[in-house]
Amino acid sequence: MRIVILGPPGAGKGTQAKLLACNYNIAHIATGDILRQAVAERSYTGEKVASYIMRGYLVPDEIIMELIRETLKKNNLVRSDFILDGIPRTISQLKDLQEFLTQQNSNLELAIYIKLRDEEILRRLGGRRVCPSCGNNYHIIFSPPVEENLCNYCRIELKHRQDDKEDAIKQRLEEYENKTYPCIQYYKKEGILEEVDGEGSIEEVFARVNKIVLERFKR
Ligand code: AP5
Repeated sequence: MRIVILGPPGAGKGTQAKLLACNYNIAHIATGDILRQAVAERSYTGEKVASYIMRGYLVPDEIIMELIRETLKKNNLVRSDFILDGIPRTISQLKDLQEFLTQQNSNLELAIYIKLRDEEILRRLGGRRVCPSCGNNYHIIFSPPVEENLCNYCRIELKHRQDDKEDAIKQRLEEYENKTYPCIQYYKKEGILEEVDGEGSIEEVFARVNKIVLERFKR
């Protein structure tokens, strides 16, 4: 089961990818999480990418491709089951990823596209809170923590992501329209794309996503 999950910022990609990974016990590889961890650790890569992320711009392709190749090679993940979240974001990443997977005798079998209206995207990103330690996502209304503004697992204060501020969201939506949406059209032409309505509760969206996965992989 080798899946890629796509859609606009805040569509619920991370939320649904985590549920799928947990349900099928497969790896969840999220480029945004990997990059944020690098920034938090102030690593060499983290220092290079921080300003792109904060302002809502895409990180340069070569940095992303190096990170993803390294991650997929680890523990031979590339030939096992996985769900990619946050990549590809450009046609150049899509082509490089395809080439890398082919070289490793692997491939993508399903692309899930979560669609969501801009108005709902803004509501979701505006209310998102993240644990700076474990990275778990919450929403102040739709999936609040048990105790106000405290992570359920780490019990530390939740934060508002820097790129969830208005200007950065605007920029992320622009990057998505111009650079990432063409990847969705590409997978549609390839015949591996399935569209999912991202409206409704997390459980309702998961039921739609899971139905597609069950049908595609006949589990
Ligand atoms: P990334 O972290 O990938 O951000 P994104 O794509 O903008 O997506 P988000 O994480 O904001 O949203 P999501 O769709 O995962 O939604 P979520 O499930 O969290 O990337 C961040 C940055 O890193 C990029 O801008 C770029 O700079 C860089 N980057 C990453 N990958 C890159 C690449 N390949 N190339 C170049 N640069 C790259 O849900 C959002 C909120 O809504 C949460 O609060 C959640 O609880 C809530 N929610 C989810 N589902 C529902 C529901 N059904 N109903 C109600 N609330 C819901």
